Amino acid sequence: MTLETACGKIILFGEHAVVYGRPALAVPLAQLRARAFIQARAAPGIIIHARDVGRTIELHDAPADDALALIARLTLDRLGAHADLEIVVESDIPLASGFGSGAAISTAIVRALAAYFGKALPPAEISALVYETERMYHGTPSGIDNTVIAYEQAIRFVRRKPLGDEEITPFHIARPFTLAIAHTGIASPTKITVGDVRRAWENDPARFEKIFDAIGALVEHAQAALAHGENEELGELMTRNQRALETLGVSSREIETLLDAGLRAGAGGGKLSGGGRGGNVIFYVELENVENIKRALLDAGAASVSVTQVGAVRL
Ligand code: MEV
Repeated sequence: MTLETACGKIILFGEHAVVYGRPALAVPLAQLRARAFIQARAAPGIIIHARDVGRTIELHDAPADDALALIARLTLDRLGAHADLEIVVESDIPLASGFGSGAAISTAIVRALAAYFGKALPPAEISALVYETERMYHGTPSGIDNTVIAYEQAIRFVRRKPLGDEEITPFHIARPFTLAIAHTGIASPTKITVGDVRRAWENDPARFEKIFDAIGALVEHAQAALAHGENEELGELMTRNQRALETLGVSSREIETLLDAGLRAGAGGGKLSGGGRGGNVIFYVELENVENIKRALLDAGAASVSVTQVGAVRL
């Protein structure tokens, strides 16, 4: 049996604007993982069991728009490999919640197939394969999710056309900091919010380009603060990024209720993370306030709250 995993992700700054060529900062979320198990199968063909959603797919008759089948086919082609296999996927990462669940599941499958056939694929190749499935989930993804998950490190990402020319730079976090992550409990497919922003941008490009520029400037500011250990600036920058996301139309009442509750309980700042309209809200918090903030978020209706250290050395 071969087992490989992949992490979830959190976008710290710059979602949505990143689709339009502005920079964004994302970090891996190592404690939430997708897993793919592979073993030889006695029956002919390849079967994929997606445990969490109770689906079973036979590769030979899976529809062309099935993302799990697509990533398995693309990876087998890339490896030049054939075998009768059973692939089981499962994931701790809530679906459609801004944590990169789709990209993580695909990455785990690519890694497990490569490991099964004794081949090493570099992160750039894994990321390029997973990008193809992201297109199925998102329509016009920037590529940030597959990149941060395939590299599993803090990444500054700038989309460039043509594809393959994007800027992928690890960014420096001088001083670790703590994030509280509140889940709204609302699944919100990224494809929908990305599509809505695109239509709004098409109707009023000048206005939206200005908002994207403002978000890009916040990202630059945040990257400099992170590099110099000026963490006290991060909360305020997050809240300003959130206000810009609100003007893009990707926030929601539930997100803003959680945001208000977190800020009132002492968080330094916060914002939605990922596609928005649901999913998760991240907060910059000081450790001594964590318990208070957690309680306030749960009281305000968060489905769950987790706490993570960003930039800490992993042992
Ligand atoms: C989704 O995690 C991030 C978005 O910026 C979409 C994308 O970059 O593809 C909303």
